[in-house]
Amino acid sequence: MPFYQRLGDVPRKRHIQFRDNGTLLTEEVMGLEGFSGNESILYHLQSPCRVMQIGEFEPIVREEWVPDTHQHRLLNTKDVPPDGDEITGRRLLMWNNDVEISLCRPSGPMEYFFRNGEGDEVIFVHEGSGTLETIFGDLPYREGDYVVIPRGTTYRFRPEGPQRHLVFETPGLIEIPRRYRNQYGQIVEGAPYYHRDIHPPAQLNTHREQGEFPVKVRVRDGYQTYVLDYHPFDVVGWDGYLFPWTFSIHDFEPITGRIHQPPPAHQTFAGRNFVICSFCPRKLDFDPLAVPIPYHHSNLQSEEMIYYVSGNFGSRKGVDVGSITLHPSGLPHGPQPGLAEKSIGLHETGELAVMCDTFHPLKLSALARDLDDGKYAYSWYDTGDGEATEAGLTSHL
Ligand SMILES: [Fe+2]
Repeated sequence: MPFYQRLGDVPRKRHIQFRDNGTLLTEEVMGLEGFSGNESILYHLQSPCRVMQIGEFEPIVREEWVPDTHQHRLLNTKDVPPDGDEITGRRLLMWNNDVEISLCRPSGPMEYFFRNGEGDEVIFVHEGSGTLETIFGDLPYREGDYVVIPRGTTYRFRPEGPQRHLVFETPGLIEIPRRYRNQYGQIVEGAPYYHRDIHPPAQLNTHREQGEFPVKVRVRDGYQTYVLDYHPFDVVGWDGYLFPWTFSIHDFEPITGRIHQPPPAHQTFAGRNFVICSFCPRKLDFDPLAVPIPYHHSNLQSEEMIYYVSGNFGSRKGVDVGSITLHPSGLPHGPQPGLAEKSIGLHETGELAVMCDTFHPLKLSALARDLDDGKYAYSWYDTGDGEATEAGLTSHL
């Protein structure tokens, strides 16, 4: 999506003969919006339709928690035990029709290939590094990366070390915000990142192995497994605008101002009815009369989920690395009592956090229920005995 890429060998023109050792290759156009959206063209050794065996279909089961009360919530995901792999280990936290947000701490390797056939994915790598092996080539990733995987991409994680991922899956598209791009697609001056910060697959490895290769495809709200008799990464070359890529949160250039900048200044990705924002270490508002922490706000039409990655929010009681605050729609929120005063004179913040604002209500999972601290909604209740929760001084709360 960000720009045109080409890896491996492709013929001089589209839709003409292209051979590998005399054998005609199979051309696949992988595209969006019929044949008028972004697309990539891949050249396969085998037909991508070739299936040796159709395996089981496994429906996705979501265990919903419908709380008795409507309130702000704090979930601590830090101690969620590792489980499954990078796909089966996705533990759903909250969701609606536009996005599913999961935590993933895999305990073992993927023994199959995966393809999301009904949605785009953004995986924020909180901990860990490795390589995302894909049909478009190998995509190295490391801590702090957003791994953006368009629908239709067959892939497999090859992790190095323990992993902690925050996973967003959406039936819509993940896009670079429109206002960051000019009419030709180039990222404009003033946007918080540039094309050089976007990393496509680095190397294409064409596999020619025969054998049994299970591919699990997310379709129709479930997982359908197919068994191929050839390695699915049989592409000798591809080109186009559709491919997986990484962008490091550490390459997000924060936009600051003399007075407080609104959350859209931190926007990183646009989804269908949701946004993903990055709160990065930055200088704070510099007007002599500035209040450097956010004003109270009523997010009347959105739900705000913030995932705390690292930084000085340790001053917020109960908020730890991996904590999530959820400020649902219909309620005001803001810094805890006394903190606006306390923040005056602060010049910078070292906080790192990922926020997802959805424009429709989020449902909560049974896991969210298990992780909910139950007390956070009272953290604005100043009893005068110093019991009010210390707020993270600088994050957008
Ligand atoms: Fe907020």
